[in-house]
Amino acid sequence: MNDSLDLGLKEKVAIVAGAGAKGDGIGNGRAAAILLAEAGAKVVVADKDQELAEKTVEMINDRKGFAKSIGADLTNPSDCKRVVDFAMSQFGRLDILDNNIGIASSLSVVEETEEYWDRVMEVNLKPMFLMSKYAIPAMISSGDGGSIVNISSISATRPKGLTVYSTSKGAVLSLSQAMAVDHGGDGIRVNCILPGPVYTPMVYASSSYLNEEGMSSEQRLQRQNASLLQIEGEGWDIGKAVVYLSSNWARYITGHLMIVDGGCSLSARARG
Ligand SMILES: NC(=O)c1ccc[n+]([C@@H]2O[C@H](COP(=O)([O-])OP(=O)(O)OC[C@H]3O[C@@H](n4cnc5c(N)ncnc54)[C@H](O)[C@@H]3O)[C@@H](O)[C@H]2O)c1
Repeated sequence: MNDSLDLGLKEKVAIVAGAGAKGDGIGNGRAAAILLAEAGAKVVVADKDQELAEKTVEMINDRKGFAKSIGADLTNPSDCKRVVDFAMSQFGRLDILDNNIGIASSLSVVEETEEYWDRVMEVNLKPMFLMSKYAIPAMISSGDGGSIVNISSISATRPKGLTVYSTSKGAVLSLSQAMAVDHGGDGIRVNCILPGPVYTPMVYASSSYLNEEGMSSEQRLQRQNASLLQIEGEGWDIGKAVVYLSSNWARYITGHLMIVDGGCSLSARARG
C-alpha cells in the first residue's frame, strides 16, 4: 500500500466512551469502536452497562480486531480515571479518545424540570470534561500527541425543540474548540462531530420518540426525507467520521466542527 494512504491507526490505543448499544444495534459509539479496531487500533470499550460493552467487544473479536470492555459510569471522576488507567495498564499507551455519551431531552424551558436539566448537563458534558482531564496527560506521556473527538449534534446550531439537549450540545462545540487551543501545543488535536438524525438504538428506544413499537416507519421516513440525499443516517456514518478525524489523514485538522447529516441542516424540511 502507498504509505500516504495509511491511516496510521495500527499500534494506536483508543478509548470509546459510551461504546455499548442495545442488542446487535449499531450506535455511534459501537460503530466507532468497531471501525477503529478494523483500522488496527486497540480499543477500550467503556460503557455504564458492561454487558453492552462486552457485546461490542464480541463484535470486534468476530472481525479479528482487538478490544477490551470496562463497565464505568463516566459521570463519575473515579470511574473516568479507572478507564484511562485500564487503557494504560492493558495496552501501555493512549492515543485516541471518542467522547460519545449523550442523552436526549424533548421539552421547553417552561415544561422541563430542574432535575432533568441537571441530569442532561451532567451526562452530556461531565464525561467529556472528566475523560479528557485524565486522558490528555496519558496521551502526552505516550509521546505521540493524540486525538479527541467530541460528539455534539446539529441540534446545537439548528435547535428543533430539544432545548436542554441543544444547550448541552452547544457547550460541546465551545469545549472542543477551547480544548483544541489549550492542547495543540501538546500535539493533541480536538475535533467535534455534529451528527444529524441517525437511526441508533438510543434513538429508537428513546422515551421522547417512543410509541409501543419504538420509532414508527413514518417517523423514520420523515427523518430520512429531511436529508438532502434522502438517505437515513447510520451509526457507521458517524463512526467513519471518528476514524477519519482520529487518523493521520486529519493531522492538520483541529478545532473543527464537522457536520455529518446528509445535508439536513441546510434544509428547512422537518426532521421529525
Ligand atoms: N442518534 C442520533 O440521531 C444522534 C444525533 C445527533 C447526535 N447524537 C449523539 O451521538 C451520541 C451517541 O448517540 P447514540 O444514539 O449513537 O447512542 P449510542 O448507541 O452510542 O449509546 C450511547 C451509550 O452511552 C452509554 N452511556 C450513557 N450514559 C453513560 C454514562 N454515564 N457512562 C458510561 N456510558 C454511558 C449508554 O449505555 C449507551 O450504550 C450522543 O452523544 C448523542 O447525543 C445522536
